[in-house]
Amino acid sequence: MAGSPDVMDKLVSLCKRRGFIFQSSEIYGGTGSVWDYGPLGVELKKNIKDRWWHAMVRSRDDIEGLDAAILMHPRTWEASGHVAGFVDPLVDCKTCKGRFRADKLEDARCPQKPSKQPGQHDACALTEARQFNLMFKTHMGALEESASIVYLRPETAQGIFVNFLNVQQSMRQKVPFGIAQIGKAFRNEITPGNFIFRTREFEQMEMQFFVEPGTDMEWFEQWKQLRMQWHLDLGLSPERLRFHQHTAGELAHYARAAFDVTFDFGGTLGYQEIEGVHNRSDFDLTQHQQFSSKKLEYFDQVNNKRYVPYVIETSVGADRVTLAALVNAYREETVEGEPEGRVVLGLHPAIAPIKAAVFPLTKKDGQPEMAQAIVSDLRGAFPVDYDESGSIGKRYRRQDEVGTPFCITVDGQSTGDQTVTVRDRDSLAQDRVDASQLRGYLAAKLAR
Ligand code: GAP
Repeated sequence: MAGSPDVMDKLVSLCKRRGFIFQSSEIYGGTGSVWDYGPLGVELKKNIKDRWWHAMVRSRDDIEGLDAAILMHPRTWEASGHVAGFVDPLVDCKTCKGRFRADKLEDARCPQKPSKQPGQHDACALTEARQFNLMFKTHMGALEESASIVYLRPETAQGIFVNFLNVQQSMRQKVPFGIAQIGKAFRNEITPGNFIFRTREFEQMEMQFFVEPGTDMEWFEQWKQLRMQWHLDLGLSPERLRFHQHTAGELAHYARAAFDVTFDFGGTLGYQEIEGVHNRSDFDLTQHQQFSSKKLEYFDQVNNKRYVPYVIETSVGADRVTLAALVNAYREETVEGEPEGRVVLGLHPAIAPIKAAVFPLTKKDGQPEMAQAIVSDLRGAFPVDYDESGSIGKRYRRQDEVGTPFCITVDGQSTGDQTVTVRDRDSLAQDRVDASQLRGYLAAKLAR
């Protein structure tokens, strides 16, 4: 059942067994909290990113796309506040050598038995908290000296801010308008974990919407609602989604107001942030103006005035939404007449890695040839799998487990009348469809 404590363990195992997600550098014992997406995982995440790109960029006149570089001028991170302020308080235990976030001790477990919070065993010897910067540092060029330090970006947002005028002027955009990008971000998290929930290398899908000061709270409200709707449209259950409003103490250094879209991952994780919607005011553009000595103002020609726009940011983790989609989709079901039951990933068809699987019922009588011809035709439009091994029941189960919405079977009748059966993953209903109409039939179902 989705939401039960062991769903995450079952998902980690399914994701590895079925080619969704592998531990990075597994043959060397793995890299801490870094994951590789396998053949089906890369399709799933790509479908989620494409859906976001379509909703945020392609379907709107007022948002432009961008792909800024990961490495940026080091002054960027001074201006943004990350060099001074992107820190977590860290404590070490001299006894167990564990390392914990000082502000999250209640969520941490000491490795000594019985299970207790760090500091609660007599033998625990916690150090004073010290501030630990989460940015990964590296060097640009041949010399490893302090002047050559650059950072792996901890958020994609700053690549947007520094390009604000480039995009606005080259695309002749008028405020209000937005800039969106999808890209990798890196954080040296003290306590990563929970599979792909919190990792050190991850992907963000961020959009900065530039508005006239004074109209910011109106836009903030609008983006909050639009982003929640996007998650609902992705198929995440309404009962598992809710907003969390940041209190004054929780607000990031740049934020005037912030709401998280949270998703109930079940088990010990429960409700957690998957997206942040922030009112960043004019903090970032003003900072970059000051640090670069370049004006980042917008000139409103109609009203003949200049101002530094306010920014409403929507920031969502591609990996975190992928995990939410997997947790949301995972279910175990009993099937009449089949004591072993079935595991189903009830993914929204639009994000399922494989859209349809084609099976010949037997390996003779021209059925494999007809099935292969259908595969070739459908591959022009969708990712399609072909499978002729094992019983038809086993083949269905294999596809259910990876979320394939439709299974097409070529049977004894098919080679005669050119019809096939199409089985629906969720209802298990079977339609008999003319093979020449399959593309249109599937396209109509997938478009929903
Ligand atoms: N630019 C604003 C910003 O980065 P954030 O709340 O720190 O805001 C936004 O991050 C989103 O990025 C989060 O809601 C989450 O989905 C994702 N994210 C942040 N840190 C992550 C990590 N260590 N692993 C995976 N995803 C992460």
